[in-house]
Amino acid sequence: MLSTLDDLKQRLQTALVNAFGPELEGTDPVLVPTNNPQFGDYQANVAMSLAKRLKDKPRAIATKIVENLTIDDLCDTPQIAGPGFINLKFKTDYLQEQLKAVYSDERLGIPTAQPKRTIVDFSSPNIAKEMHVGHLRSTIIGECIARTLEFLGHDVLRLNHVGDWGTQFGMLITHLRDVCPEAITESSSVDIGDLVEFYKQAKKRFDEDEDFKSTSRDAVVALQSGEETAYKAWQLLCEQSRKEFQKIYDRLDITIQERGESFYNPLLDDVTKDLTSLGLLEENQGAQVVFLEGFTNKDGNPQPLIVRKSDGGFNYATTDLAAIPQRSINEIAERVIYITDAGQANHFAQVFQVANRAHWIPDNVELVHVPFGLVKGEDGKKLKTRSGETVKLKDLLDEAITRSEKDLKQRIADESRNESEDFIHEVSTAVGLGAVKYADLSQNRTSDYIFSFDKMLALQGNTAPYMLYAYVRVQGISRKGDIDFSQLGEAPIVLEDNTELALAKHLLALDTIVMVVALELFPIRLCQFLFEVCQIFYQAEEPQRTSRLMLCDLTARTLKLGLSLLGIQVLERM
Ligand code: ARG
Repeated sequence: MLSTLDDLKQRLQTALVNAFGPELEGTDPVLVPTNNPQFGDYQANVAMSLAKRLKDKPRAIATKIVENLTIDDLCDTPQIAGPGFINLKFKTDYLQEQLKAVYSDERLGIPTAQPKRTIVDFSSPNIAKEMHVGHLRSTIIGECIARTLEFLGHDVLRLNHVGDWGTQFGMLITHLRDVCPEAITESSSVDIGDLVEFYKQAKKRFDEDEDFKSTSRDAVVALQSGEETAYKAWQLLCEQSRKEFQKIYDRLDITIQERGESFYNPLLDDVTKDLTSLGLLEENQGAQVVFLEGFTNKDGNPQPLIVRKSDGGFNYATTDLAAIPQRSINEIAERVIYITDAGQANHFAQVFQVANRAHWIPDNVELVHVPFGLVKGEDGKKLKTRSGETVKLKDLLDEAITRSEKDLKQRIADESRNESEDFIHEVSTAVGLGAVKYADLSQNRTSDYIFSFDKMLALQGNTAPYMLYAYVRVQGISRKGDIDFSQLGEAPIVLEDNTELALAKHLLALDTIVMVVALELFPIRLCQFLFEVCQIFYQAEEPQRTSRLMLCDLTARTLKLGLSLLGIQVLERM
């Protein structure tokens, strides 16, 4: 089944070719929704964009296109307006048929794509450090993108590029040997909070104490050369952090495979070798660097990307360089998506540039950095606890759940309902976590956003609770009226009033929206769509007719599917 939009597009394209010949094959009909539903549903603006090329007036071009447009089964007679807009209005019959087809389809009309091997590199916290809100954003956005691509049939490898390698381990191990040796000899003897504290102390010593510094450097060398006690210590530290990260992933229902920086360690030497043989690597103040094109330092000279430091160590960037051929060749990925804060945009632009100049990116491979903005507190500053500490993810999720539980208990009391502890627990967990996820995904990804429990947990507005409630309401209709939605399938869908028509047209856009999210990687598009569906749905009165029930059911199924792509679980009651 063709989506309504694709159907329109194809008809217009055929008309263009029929009117002006095969040179116009593939021309974009510039189809956009009309601002005013009075004029129709869509307008094609192609006549204006072709005027120059065809050396004719847009209105004359529009007339010729319309003459060649066979569209009676889809639309009312197209109207030409203004300088040459072609206004198109769907026929109710056509919408009814399309909707019926979507209704009968488990995938709600969303086709599967030509499968592409795709890597989504997301979450990626650092060992021995606490996962922070930036990692939370990456985790939530990454999960949504991975789910969407998987739903479309892509072969997705979800990778957790954890920071588990580098000089920080030298100082951490050295410090622990002094102050808490059991931390690096016995498993589970320290928790992550302690590790974070030890890390801070180690860093301080490293910056202040020359002896400590050189011992730490030796420890890095020992670790990198596989010396047993250093290696064991490192493993224990990783294990401890991994357990903590996993708790967060379990709560948020995140699936991800760990493949940290250390995985690429054996490939780092080849990076320098290859870059040297290509003549890209140069010596600069003892370090080995590639001078970048288009990046200059404050004196206006080309900025270097350090591939190997003067002490022989490698960088964050070296690992990302090594990962590029590994992913495109060994993993045969055609699309690699990196999800990090916008602060790393330059890092990725530089790494991609070097990889490109080294011809490590095959033609069929696309590397995309998906940047996101900062999470801020309600004061507009970086999110902090009241005492000024960085907010722990665990505390943040706990608080979302506690607050949603409080709201729920209040509602239960107001409505004099009687609910079990299990129910309260299940609902407040789903609502609290759903609210955190939705609040993030419904933001324009690239902007900073203000984290507000009050806003995200509100039952009104563009929030998870608002949407979950619409779903619950439909389930309520089914329960109260003792209606089995699965038995409605045989009846035709008849659209009667404007609200129904508006809802129908909206629901029919789901396939396009999901494909746009997969292409452009902006989850906000899906959130906006689901929000609008809910808004129209709430305008409709309680259903009396079978058709209306089917529309309700389809709305609920659309919400369920859409929310699941966002990583949000629906509830039957709340
Ligand atoms: N560990 C990094 C950080 O916390 C993020 C890693 C992102 N992925 C990558 N391939 N560089 O900022």
